[in-house]
Amino acid sequence: MADLSTTYMGVPLKNPVIVAASSISNYVDKVKKAEETGAAALVIRSLFEEQIHHDEMTMADFLERAANISPEIQSSFYPPVEHGGPREHLMWVEKTRRAVNMPIFASLNAVSPGAWTSYAKQLEETGIAGLEINYYIVATDPDVPGSDLEKALLDIVGAVVSEVSIPVSVKLSPYYTSTPHVVRELERRGAKAVVMFNRFLQPDIDVDDEAITNEMAYSTPQEMKVPLRWVALLYGRTGLDLALNTGVHSGRDVAKALLAGASVVQVASACLQNGLPYISTMLLDLQGWMEEKGYESLDDFRGKVSQKNVPDAFGFERAQYMQLLMSQQ
Ligand SMILES: Cc1cc2nc3c(=O)[nH]c(=O)nc-3n(C[C@H](O)[C@H](O)[C@H](O)COP(=O)(O)O)c2cc1C
Repeated sequence: MADLSTTYMGVPLKNPVIVAASSISNYVDKVKKAEETGAAALVIRSLFEEQIHHDEMTMADFLERAANISPEIQSSFYPPVEHGGPREHLMWVEKTRRAVNMPIFASLNAVSPGAWTSYAKQLEETGIAGLEINYYIVATDPDVPGSDLEKALLDIVGAVVSEVSIPVSVKLSPYYTSTPHVVRELERRGAKAVVMFNRFLQPDIDVDDEAITNEMAYSTPQEMKVPLRWVALLYGRTGLDLALNTGVHSGRDVAKALLAGASVVQVASACLQNGLPYISTMLLDLQGWMEEKGYESLDDFRGKVSQKNVPDAFGFERAQYMQLLMSQQ
């Protein structure tokens, strides 16, 4: 039997399949099912900054109204406002963590520095194995250059890393001008892994209603090519673990990710579409493929088809762009 064990940010895992941050973590039963069907670890859905502000505002508003009725109500019955927002999320993270044996990672959707270090610390106190920073920003202000936005990310990560002692990963967007530079700077700030990449919902327009529509569509295997390329380009060129995310839909996709150099994969859509038992199908397929190839462990082939290890080093860069275009009739 091929050995699927690996490590991610120093955390030992029984195999390389992690359930990505998603609605699966909304239910303890589903998290348990994910573990039973073979998932090595799970990322709990993000604690969002908007959620914190919204909850804090709601709590602040409530307390203000309550104080008008009875000033004691504030101090006697309710926690301080700053702890009102993410409290339920923190309790949920801890409850989930206690319900399973597999490592549980938490995710923080940071935009501004400051309060974020304190939420990172509080998440750490729930006993999680590591923390994923989910940096999601849509740049709309032409006065703000990309370098400022990158600096903001690096500042957040540096501040969080210095606040916690658990390993920190960063879930990146695929839209950086120089992904290798961002990854190197994240490593310098003490991150232990990058998750490549987040998959953003793209708004659509309904031409009948002439209005914006938003739909939660699942990924397709075709979408794996973007992270696959970047994992292949970065493997062996960074000390960070590379978690390939987006478009992993089969055991063969997991094999592909590992050949490119991924430490682990993160999977959401395939689990939501096919049900959690599908994780065991993916693992059996990976195992079958490894046995066919004569591989005994993941290290036997990890990074074998990364840019560093293939004869055609340009294959992952412009991907024979010109020849392919010219050959089309
Ligand atoms: C229903 C749903 C909820 C999600 N919630 C989060 C979240 O809270 N935080 C996050 O970083 N990503 C979230 N994601 C994104 C996934 O973690 C993942 O990055 C994305 O779905 C791409 O992986 P996939 O191709 O396996 O679906 C969510 C995805 C789905 C489908």
